[in-house]
Amino acid sequence: MGFKEHFIIPEGMIYMNTPGNGLIPKKIREWRVERDQTFFDPRVTLREEQTPFIQGVRESLATFFNTTEKHVYCTPNFSFGFNVLLDGLPKHLKFLLIAGDYPSLNYPIISRGFAYDTVELSITLEVDIWQHVEQQKPDVLAISIIQYISGVKIDLSFIKKLKEAFPDLLIIGDGTQYFGTEPFSFPASGFDAIGGSGYKWLMAGFGNGYTILNEKMQALIYQEAQQKQRPKEAMWSSKTILHTYFEPGHQDTLSHGTLQQSLHFLTELGLSRVQQQLQETTSYAYEKFQEHNLLLPIAAQRATQSSLINVQIDPNHFGTLMAQQVRCFPRGTGIRIGLHLYNDKQDIDQLLAIIDKI
Ligand SMILES: Cc1ncc(COP(=O)(O)O)c(C=O)c1O
Repeated sequence: MGFKEHFIIPEGMIYMNTPGNGLIPKKIREWRVERDQTFFDPRVTLREEQTPFIQGVRESLATFFNTTEKHVYCTPNFSFGFNVLLDGLPKHLKFLLIAGDYPSLNYPIISRGFAYDTVELSITLEVDIWQHVEQQKPDVLAISIIQYISGVKIDLSFIKKLKEAFPDLLIIGDGTQYFGTEPFSFPASGFDAIGGSGYKWLMAGFGNGYTILNEKMQALIYQEAQQKQRPKEAMWSSKTILHTYFEPGHQDTLSHGTLQQSLHFLTELGLSRVQQQLQETTSYAYEKFQEHNLLLPIAAQRATQSSLINVQIDPNHFGTLMAQQVRCFPRGTGIRIGLHLYNDKQDIDQLLAIIDKI
C-alpha cells in the first residue's frame, strides 16, 4: 500500500498545503472520533486520567526525538513553548537571528528587548553564521530548521560542527516545518533546545506542540525559581519547577493524544522510509521546476533541499490554483507548496500542467 492510501483526499484535489497545515491520516481520524465518543461518556474514567495520559505523550515524544521524557514539555503550540523559554533566559544574552525567519521566532526576542543581530538568508547561510559567531560572539543562535517562506533548510551537520567549535553558543531550533520528514536525534543534533507545533508535517491537527531542552538549557532558565522551594500541593507533586512554567495548566488530551498517535504512525511507517519517499518526490519536483524556471534562486543553488518549495509564479494566481483544487498558499514572491506522504510525482506533473495553462 502506498502512503497516499493512508489519507482521505477528495477526487481531483492536490493537497500541497502541508507548510500551512498537514492532513490527518485516516487511522488517526478514526482514533479521534472513537476517543471523543468515549470521553463524552460519564461512566468511563478517561477524563480523570489527564496526568498519566500527558505523561505518556511526553514519553512518546522522548522516544521520537531519541531522548528521555524529563527533557520534554507538552505545549499547545511552538510559540507558547518558545515564549516561555525566552522568559526564563538571562536578559543579558545576545541573539543571532536569520533575517525574515518565522515571525513568532524572531519577534518575541526583539520585543523582549534582547540584544540581537541578524544574518541575511543567502546561499552561503552556514558560512555567514559561522563567521558571525566567530567574530561577534553571540550567546544564542535561534533558527528555524526550514525557513517558512523559501524552504531553505539549514545543513544539520553544520549545526553539529558549530556546536563542537563553539560549545558555549546556545542553539535553539524551531522544527515546525521539519520534524516528521526524516529521523532526528535531539542529543546528537547540537541543539540545546528544539520546539515545534504538531499540525504541519506531524499531521496532528491544532492545539499540540512540544519543547525539548537539554540539561544545560534546563539549568540555565528560571534559575531563581529553580532554587526556591517546590510547591508543596499534592496535585503538583509530579511537576518540576520547569513544568510549572511550560505546562502551567491542564492540557488538551484529545489534541496531544492526536500528536501521540501521529508519532506512532510515523514510527510504524519508519522515518527512513518517510525520508526516502519525500526525497524522491522532492528531487523530482526540483528537477521539473528547474526545467520550468520556477525555483527560487536560493533554493536552486543550495545543496540541501527541503520538501517546502516556493514555486515562482505570481502569488496572485493563488485563487486560480485553489479553483483548480490545488491546495497551496501565497508566500513571498511565489506560491508555497509542501510535498508530504500524500503527494507523488503525478501531483507535480498535474500542478505543472495547470501552471502551464495560466
Ligand atoms: C517556521 C515555523 N515555525 C513555527 C510555526 C508555527 O508556530 P505556531 O503554531 O506557534 O504559530 C510555523 C507556522 O507557519 C512556521 O512556519
